[in-house]
Amino acid sequence: MPAIDLRSDTVTQPTDAMREAMARAAVGDDGYGEDPTVRRLEVLAAERLGKEDAVLVPSGTMANLVAQLTHTGRGGEVLLEAMSHILRSELGGVANLAGLFHRGLPGHDGAMDIDALREAIRSGLSPKRLGTALVCMETTHNAAGGKVLPLDHMAEVHAIAKRHAVPVHIDGSRIFNAATALRVQAPEIARYGDSVSICLSKGLSAPVGSLLSGSKAIIERARAFRKMVGGSMRQAGIIAAAGIIAIEQMTQRLGDDHATAQVLARRLAAIDPVLADPTRVQTNIVMVDVTRSKRRAEDWLVDLKDRGVLANAFGPYVVRLVTHRHIAEADATRAADIIAELWRGRIAAAVPRGAAASD
Ligand SMILES: Cc1ncc(COP(=O)(O)O)c(C=O)c1O
Repeated sequence: MPAIDLRSDTVTQPTDAMREAMARAAVGDDGYGEDPTVRRLEVLAAERLGKEDAVLVPSGTMANLVAQLTHTGRGGEVLLEAMSHILRSELGGVANLAGLFHRGLPGHDGAMDIDALREAIRSGLSPKRLGTALVCMETTHNAAGGKVLPLDHMAEVHAIAKRHAVPVHIDGSRIFNAATALRVQAPEIARYGDSVSICLSKGLSAPVGSLLSGSKAIIERARAFRKMVGGSMRQAGIIAAAGIIAIEQMTQRLGDDHATAQVLARRLAAIDPVLADPTRVQTNIVMVDVTRSKRRAEDWLVDLKDRGVLANAFGPYVVRLVTHRHIAEADATRAADIIAELWRGRIAAAVPRGAAASD
């Protein structure tokens, strides 16, 4: 039986339609701006996000890096929520390549604290503080368990940044999950960023690719920084062809992944409410709290793998499960049952004889 792979939505395979489109894509040298399929994808992405233009890059990390280079002129401080992907998982590329400093602000469910933002933001350089070069938001928020930033929060962050003439970038790697959960179109979210990055290779199933979108001027400048960081490609229409299908056909099915995540979360909560809270699962990520088992998340991953379930650790006692196109409801149920079996064994071992199990 194949493993139930809940590590990430990045494990999704390209669809048959994508493979066919890739095989027959019209291509040209995108270094000269001559790849018609890349251009089609860029125009499509811009349109779906309500922006003037977009540029294709290989990865979400590069889209975020190029965005930061583009907005900042290589100086100042970037303010963002402390658990955001840019800060936690993009290996400090911005400090190395852009000469920028990141300042993580405290947040709740991925939403930065507004008072902390007000306190931290600065219009320009002073003898005491760096000026704020950029404010970033992330939605859905990966480390917060796929949480969707409320639109009024995004509006407030945007307004504060604008009052200080500071640009805003949105890491929208999973913006279509956010739009699905909020039941809005993506431009309703994207409007709160001068630029927005999106990923094609996560829940949308494309093999490669991200886009950075924004005004024509921002994207023209971004093309130069893409070249600087080695992200300019040649006959990239091969990957763009899959990206077009990702945007045209795969965004509508993300609700299925959210429903599967609910099945998983509800079943886990039925085993023990401390494991997961379905009311806090908004999209396709379920964070499982295994603290009470007194067994570390890394050890849980080994036990789960032995039983055919792949997952990731997110913190010492949190296991992250991500649903996607290859996870059917039956897989979610089976994974939950495997966790249940392990949980009962661990709890029995962790709770001393005679102690109440519900403490
Ligand atoms: C929120 C978020 N931003 C950016 C990225 C980076 O994308 P990539 O892995 O394509 O570089 C990820 C990857 O998981 C992510 O979850």
